[in-house]
Amino acid sequence: MSEVLLSAKNLTKRFGGLAAVSGVSLDLQRGRIHAVIGPNGAGKSTLANLLSGDLAPTSGSVMLGGRDVTGWPPEKISKQGLGRSYQKTNIFLPFTVWENVRLAAQSRQTQAASWLTLATDFVAIDARVERAIELSGLKHQAKNMAGTISHGEQRQLEIAMTLATGPQVLLLDEPLAGMGATEAERMVALLLAIKKDHAILLVEHDMDAVFALADRLTVMVDGRVIASGSPAQIRADAGVQAAYLGEEH
Ligand SMILES: Nc1ncnc2c1ncn2[C@@H]1O[C@H](COP(=O)(O)OP(=O)(O)OP(=O)(O)O)[C@@H](O)[C@H]1O
Ligand SMILES: [Mg+2]
Repeated sequence: MSEVLLSAKNLTKRFGGLAAVSGVSLDLQRGRIHAVIGPNGAGKSTLANLLSGDLAPTSGSVMLGGRDVTGWPPEKISKQGLGRSYQKTNIFLPFTVWENVRLAAQSRQTQAASWLTLATDFVAIDARVERAIELSGLKHQAKNMAGTISHGEQRQLEIAMTLATGPQVLLLDEPLAGMGATEAERMVALLLAIKKDHAILLVEHDMDAVFALADRLTVMVDGRVIASGSPAQIRADAGVQAAYLGEEH
């Protein structure tokens, strides 16, 4: 069994009378992609927000890298090794691809530093930026404005920005949203390339991509987990077919 980097236990988030996430538990392991699927409003993004610290859970706990990070603010959770991309793009359009990734990388670097450590930090950050841009397949666009690259490349840029923070755990909320077939294939290849070194939570509606990528799936409906298992188990699950997959296949 590979190393568990993130472990969520019995997470619940209530908004007034609505339980957007209800008693959800899952583990993320290095080298594995764990997909969370389910209809609109199932609670997938809310679950990601609970893991990243964007929202504090009503109850339940999150362990990250062996520490209890429940209730920690997002910046502190990010420093503990969690990177997050959002369902809606989060990039600065009038900045270059390189600048966007550089800003993301820098956001992790907030410790007071002496002149000397600052200089070494800069070299280390730049190396991380280069690597993230290269891995994401955007080297040829590095000097171009983020607003001028294609939608698919903007989603790749978000992955680069997430990778540049040096995370162990990646939470990706619909990285394939709005993509055409070719762009989607490129993103699938990118996610396969980065999965070896990371534990990945993938929220995604594109079922071809999900079944091409996921080692394990959790299916949510109305805030609850209705099934969790291997891709083969999920495909064969009658309840999942009825609640979700049946609509699409
Ligand atoms: N900040 C909030 N305040 C109140 N209700 C919210 C809030 N955020 C989400 N919700 C509600 O919680 C439920 C789950 O929303 P969530 O965005 O997590 O769903 P989702 O599975 O990500 O859906 P989609 O596939 O459309 O992205 C929805 O009913 C939504 O309206
Ligand atoms: Mg969502």
